[in-house]
Amino acid sequence: MLFTVEIWQFVKSNILSVVLGIIALILWKNWSKPDHFSRLPPGPAPVPLVGNLLHIDVKEPYTYYLELAKKYGSVFTIWLSNKPAVVISGYEALKDALLTQGDDFSGRANYPVLMRVTRGYGVLASSGHRWRELRRFSIMTLKNFGMGRRSIEERIQEEARCLVKAFEEPNGGTFNPEHLLCNAVSNVICSIVFRHRFEYHDPQFRFLFDAIDAYFKVLSSPIGQLYNIFPKIVGLFPGPHKKMFKMVDKAQAYMKEQTVNRLMKLDTSSMPEDYIEAFLIKMLEEKDKANSEFSYDNLFSSIWSLFSAGTETTSSTLRHMLLIMMKYPEVQERVHKEIDEVIGPDRPPMMEDRVKMPYTDAVVHEVQRSMDLAPTAVPHKVMRDTEFHNYHIPEGTLVLPLISSVLADPQLWKNPNHFDPENFLDDAGHFQKNDAFLAFGLGKRVCLGEGLARMELFLFFTSLMQRFTFVGIEPPEEIDITPSCCSFGRLPRSYECYAKLRVQE
Ligand code: HEM
Repeated sequence: MLFTVEIWQFVKSNILSVVLGIIALILWKNWSKPDHFSRLPPGPAPVPLVGNLLHIDVKEPYTYYLELAKKYGSVFTIWLSNKPAVVISGYEALKDALLTQGDDFSGRANYPVLMRVTRGYGVLASSGHRWRELRRFSIMTLKNFGMGRRSIEERIQEEARCLVKAFEEPNGGTFNPEHLLCNAVSNVICSIVFRHRFEYHDPQFRFLFDAIDAYFKVLSSPIGQLYNIFPKIVGLFPGPHKKMFKMVDKAQAYMKEQTVNRLMKLDTSSMPEDYIEAFLIKMLEEKDKANSEFSYDNLFSSIWSLFSAGTETTSSTLRHMLLIMMKYPEVQERVHKEIDEVIGPDRPPMMEDRVKMPYTDAVVHEVQRSMDLAPTAVPHKVMRDTEFHNYHIPEGTLVLPLISSVLADPQLWKNPNHFDPENFLDDAGHFQKNDAFLAFGLGKRVCLGEGLARMELFLFFTSLMQRFTFVGIEPPEEIDITPSCCSFGRLPRSYECYAKLRVQE
């Protein structure tokens, strides 16, 4: 007892020293870099507790990384609070990491927003054995539906017809195409996942993609960045992130309900007709296998992955394409001319038209290159202790592939800083492929829906352009094509436009 009183008196008389001592202890605990961090790539000196956060513009983090790449070269380290992140910049270094050492760099970072929504399940958020199994299954299933009786191409053409009709509804008045584009793209995934398409005004459909929209907007906003760095603290406060988590929970509950309904009616003797059925059949086949990854958790999260990764990306790109058409009427005119020559006014565009339409193909690629939708892809982590470019990156370290550095590299493009379809055309006007086109990522975790997305972009874009001329509510020179959010995703801004009928009935 006497001893306790003495301690208390000592604390009281040395209160300042005690507080400073505690702070020093916290700093030391959080900051003393363990030995395994000693051979990380170089980078700017971090400040205890916050790392390099004071220099990172949470609205546009990749611009700081691009600057650092000029100073430190193609591999460097930044500290997000007390955690290191290795940034890889430039085509050659990205190839070395994601292709040559693809297995080492194939992990998905445990980003708190992603983890809160998926709990590490599903094809997008998982790593290692789980991810490999789910990725192989998902690719095979998407391919099977594309190659089946009712191919993905036909489904997109059918949806494009509905989209064109919906664009006619404003009858020459202004409208915002954002929701319609999102509906159309979402419906393609819905038909693959649920074998069902929604009418564009169906309220059930609305809440599904409102949830996806909110998810991307939060991920691409400063609050999302802060949540990813300080999840426990930011999670305590109200804000758009809390609202978004509630919306996503509701959307996921709907997806679960759909799955249970489907399970009740499952006929294992016939061929699966959608992703859910194919997954449920696989679950039954593997029910006695000890380490099977075909579980409900992985099914629900994989469905969410396909929806979330496949909707906002493709519809944002289409939205940006129409904005570019309004900004550059001369480009729009050339696309119209090519459509008139190759497809004409009556039949629906087909994928086989693309090879005969080099200019339109170049426009689609150039929109993707110049908009740079995912400047740091979806962050990775290293799966094991990794030697890379003479540095040592410990297992589990966050890795940011700086895709922006390649998409705007002056060594790799004729005109890197402006929208210019010539970036994908040779002197004779033929389409010119460029391996540095990394809009879908690179290596083992390259976008799983790339083939589907390319079809959607070409077919939706040409179907709309076949029927309409797009005009902005401002003159072209005043149209702003800079994105509205620029962190995780560079999402294009919302706008009103006119869709003027080209072909009169
Ligand atoms: C213009 C459209 C699209 C773009 C620009 C895009 C871009 C990307 C990028 C950059 C990644 C990350 C690659 C990495 O981790 O290094 C990715 C991953 C992914 N994408 Fe896409 N994507 C698009 C459309 C789609 C579509 C339509 C689907 C749906 C089928 C889809 C499904 C996925 C999935 C599931 C992943 C995660 C793959 C994995 O972790 O193994 N994406 N996408």
